[in-house]
Amino acid sequence: MKQTAYVKKIGLLSIVGAVLMAGVPSPAAEDLVSRRQADMKAMAAAAKTISGMFKDPTTYKANEFKWAADTIRDKSGSVLSAHFASQAASPQSKAGSNILEERDRFDRIANDLRDYAIALDAAAQNNPGQMSASMRMKPGEAMGGGPLGSRVRNEQELLAMPAEHAFHLMLQTCTTCHAKFRME
Ligand code: HEC
Repeated sequence: MKQTAYVKKIGLLSIVGAVLMAGVPSPAAEDLVSRRQADMKAMAAAAKTISGMFKDPTTYKANEFKWAADTIRDKSGSVLSAHFASQAASPQSKAGSNILEERDRFDRIANDLRDYAIALDAAAQNNPGQMSASMRMKPGEAMGGGPLGSRVRNEQELLAMPAEHAFHLMLQTCTTCHAKFRME
């Protein structure tokens, strides 16, 4: 079999596998819970990498920044949503039971996260050398409660803002979802 066909087949199998897993109740639920928690931890590590570079721009490396952004991009959106497609009856899970009832809201937040990650990926691609001043927020720049609020209206607006601003909005997205859908 040709290499590419083989790889495609494996890819398809794992997609089918992931879809099946999402719909299966325990004990597969245990597995699902540990996988989505592992994904969350990977996103937290990636966010820490990016945060470190904004704190000390001399440590900026475009490829590492991009890799971190892509980690979040690939684990957010519909991938994240699919991890919470069914009620996982697991004592290990801290997922709120309101996720299924407020599916649309949950999915929208998961998609917002992905949009921010895409904007950060683009910033890394546009700044292959040093972290440019245009990536940084200007002192006193409106944040959070500012005219934009915490949701961005469209992609253009998102790509036009400094990456650091998009990053802060991204972190708010994590917090917003946890406050609403993660139990203490
Ligand atoms: C759309 C909702 C949503 C978004 C967005 C989200 N999370 Fe989560 N997160 C959850 C839920 C729900 C849980 C609890 C999962 C469980 O225990 O089954 C969780 C759990 C976690 C955990 C604990 C994992 C563990 O081992 O128990 C960490 C860390 C975490 N999230 C980090 C992040 C970071 C960092 C971001 C943003 C980059 C983020 N999350 C974005 C919903 C979200």
